[in-house]
Amino acid sequence: MKFIKPYLFAVTTLLAVSCTSQKETASLKDAYKNDFYIGTALSADQIEVKKVKEDSLIRKEFNAITAENIMKSMYTHPEKDKYDFALSDKFVAYGEKNKMFIHGHTLIWHSQLAPWMEKIADSTEMKAFMQDHINTIVSKYKGKINSWDVVNEALNEDGTLRQSVFLKTLGEKYLVDAFKLAAKADPKAELYYNDYNIEEPAKRVGAIALIKKIKAEGGKVDGVGIQGHWRLNSPSIEEIEKSILEYSALGVKVAFTELDITVLPNPWDLKGAEISQKFEGSAKMNPYPKALPDSIQNKLAERYASIFKLFLKHKDKISRVTFWGVHDGQSWLNDWPIKGRTNYPLPFDKDLRHKKAYDSLLKLKETKE
Ligand code: G3I
Repeated sequence: MKFIKPYLFAVTTLLAVSCTSQKETASLKDAYKNDFYIGTALSADQIEVKKVKEDSLIRKEFNAITAENIMKSMYTHPEKDKYDFALSDKFVAYGEKNKMFIHGHTLIWHSQLAPWMEKIADSTEMKAFMQDHINTIVSKYKGKINSWDVVNEALNEDGTLRQSVFLKTLGEKYLVDAFKLAAKADPKAELYYNDYNIEEPAKRVGAIALIKKIKAEGGKVDGVGIQGHWRLNSPSIEEIEKSILEYSALGVKVAFTELDITVLPNPWDLKGAEISQKFEGSAKMNPYPKALPDSIQNKLAERYASIFKLFLKHKDKISRVTFWGVHDGQSWLNDWPIKGRTNYPLPFDKDLRHKKAYDSLLKLKETKE
């Protein structure tokens, strides 16, 4: 007994050390390397490598990148005859240096347009804009940017087409034109239609019709991007699965392009409540300003695990899963739909520590293989 005790101590210590170091060296991109890309969305500061610790986390965990904001048209094309590629060049160089899959977000989107674009009122001018915009940007990064969100968020919640400045000036034809222009500028780039809530039944019907129509009219659509701004209890795994199956039946790849899971209440979930400002600063709407309680931390981990379990089941149909941000501190969900809250939607916390959600994603792979 005298000898067994120190021996047992040594073995347990050894086991504990090796488990910890395994955790420290394991990464999402390695765990899922045979399944699909694991991506993240980078802020301008992350592209410019302002924080070394964040940078090593990004390089360790992810093998695909999207620019969270800097490739939107208000930044890349601020004036009619002026493009600004300073940051997008850095973004692409970052991806190339680190051998990452590079995704372009986004070419044709009604939001975050430059002010001059919003003033375009006739079809001739809009046609010229689309041609110049898509051709200039996609050609510039030909062979470097692997895939593009060609059209972003063209649908309403009921599946009808959004009355955007593009639809108003050009009619439905703008959709197929955008895909044709992008394919012409870089025939090898993968072209996606990207939207949120398109796993919901009505909007899904609209997205399927839209993709079918673009293809029928000769446009090249390689994939659909389901953004995945989700909640702890919805959408259901069944609806997500139906979406994967129905989209891939169209012959396109399915990507989850902006995944995050809010743990905070939404104004519109409260029956009879009014939305937005009224809740600013209200403790009820910002229940975890200091830390996330264990019970919710566990729920988030379970939710991520069940989502990824489904993704693994359909890995042959899924090209990429990208988280919308590297860590909780950076998430847009801290300021939307109410400004200044503390949300916890990602697998890493604001101090870059991995959360139970992260562990649950690694565990899923350990038990599977
Ligand atoms: O850069 C300015 C800064 O100079 C200024 O001081 C500050 C004051 O508010 O604003 C900064 O710009 C903000 C920008 O993010 C960069 O941080 C904008 O106000 C803010 O509106 C913008 O929000 C972005 C949002 O798209 C805009 O539509 C979020 O970061 C970004 O995560 C979000 O991403 C979208 C996807 O592109 C499309 N799908 C939905 C998704 C979430 O909304």
